[in-house]
Amino acid sequence: MRILVLGGTVFLGRAVARQALAAGHDVTCAARGTSGDPVDGATFVTVDREEAGGLGAVEGTFDAVVDVARKPSHVRHMVAELAGRAGHVTFVSSCSAYADAVTPDQTSETAPLLPPADPANEDPAAGAEEYGRCKVTCEELVREGFGEVLVNRAGLIVGPEDPTGRFDYWVARHARGGEILAPGDPDERVQYVDVRDLADWILRCAEEGRTGTYDGMGAPMTRREFHAGLQAGTGGTGTLTWVPQDFLTGHAVVPWSGARSLPLWLPLPEYGGFLTRDVTRSLAAGLQPRPLPETAAATLAAFSDTRHITGLTEEEEVELLREWHAR
Ligand SMILES: NC(=O)c1ccc[n+]([C@@H]2O[C@H](COP(=O)([O-])OP(=O)(O)OC[C@H]3O[C@@H](n4cnc5c(N)ncnc54)[C@H](OP(=O)(O)O)[C@@H]3O)[C@@H](O)[C@H]2O)c1
Repeated sequence: MRILVLGGTVFLGRAVARQALAAGHDVTCAARGTSGDPVDGATFVTVDREEAGGLGAVEGTFDAVVDVARKPSHVRHMVAELAGRAGHVTFVSSCSAYADAVTPDQTSETAPLLPPADPANEDPAAGAEEYGRCKVTCEELVREGFGEVLVNRAGLIVGPEDPTGRFDYWVARHARGGEILAPGDPDERVQYVDVRDLADWILRCAEEGRTGTYDGMGAPMTRREFHAGLQAGTGGTGTLTWVPQDFLTGHAVVPWSGARSLPLWLPLPEYGGFLTRDVTRSLAAGLQPRPLPETAAATLAAFSDTRHITGLTEEEEVELLREWHAR
């Protein structure tokens, strides 16, 4: 197949391109080339989707197109410029498109969506809700433009080359060992997808011509299972100290990501719907999540000196554990 990856210079786009090449496809990646490099073997076309006509250098027809855009304007331009030239179309959306962050076990078929972005202010970088609303607009534009498409609402994507450093925090933390501050309750759930499994599924959906809307995430697991998988994959020998959320919020620990955060930790019940999606349909449609120890081991093996890791510093963790034991 002739496959166009709109993006393809970072993380998921690179993984899709790499797997498509390995499967013997002819792969073109189109981006500005400022965020990273395309994988070896792909044809790279320099484009800037900020401007109408910005995809002018992308020539010919494609059996499959995969787009990871966040900005509705980029999708508007793409729909106009690839009209009549795209076979199967995949739009990579996000579970951030959903409106209800609280209710556990929602499915892609019934979960309510955020409203589309305000046409006067379509800025996916303006915050989590704006990002989700922009993805809703992008989905609508792709469906209007191409009809039957695949919308893959990705959840937390992890694995080698993840630029966010969230999952990497936990891989690095387990690899280091010692006493590990584990947030929340061991029976709470966490959910993610290995970038290689998501890329593989996106590619197979394109090959099979599958359309529809799916969540791109594996089944939830408990935090206990999550840490056990990390330990197995990294060979770490650390011991977990579970610290409940009241203590964490009372000590200014930040959820999810960023400075002084415990990555992938989200307060409950307000984020009870976020890492607990029912993905039965996705698994039935071909998503094949690999075991967590494999993801953890590959992530660790891909660490480089310049890797970005978000989360607590070692000193912050030690101090929090000291205060927890002294309470
Ligand atoms: N990471 C997660 O946990 C997560 C969770 C849910 C959903 N998602 C979604 O999953 C996808 C991840 O995609 P990704 O890993 O490939 O990363 P990404 O950061 O979304 O990639 C954006 C791509 O678009 C290109 N691009 C940006 N601005 C451009 C412009 N003006 N013109 C042309 N190309 C442009 C970038 O390359 P250049 O900068 O070189 O142009 C890059 O290749 C996204 O759709 C994201 O919203 C991610």
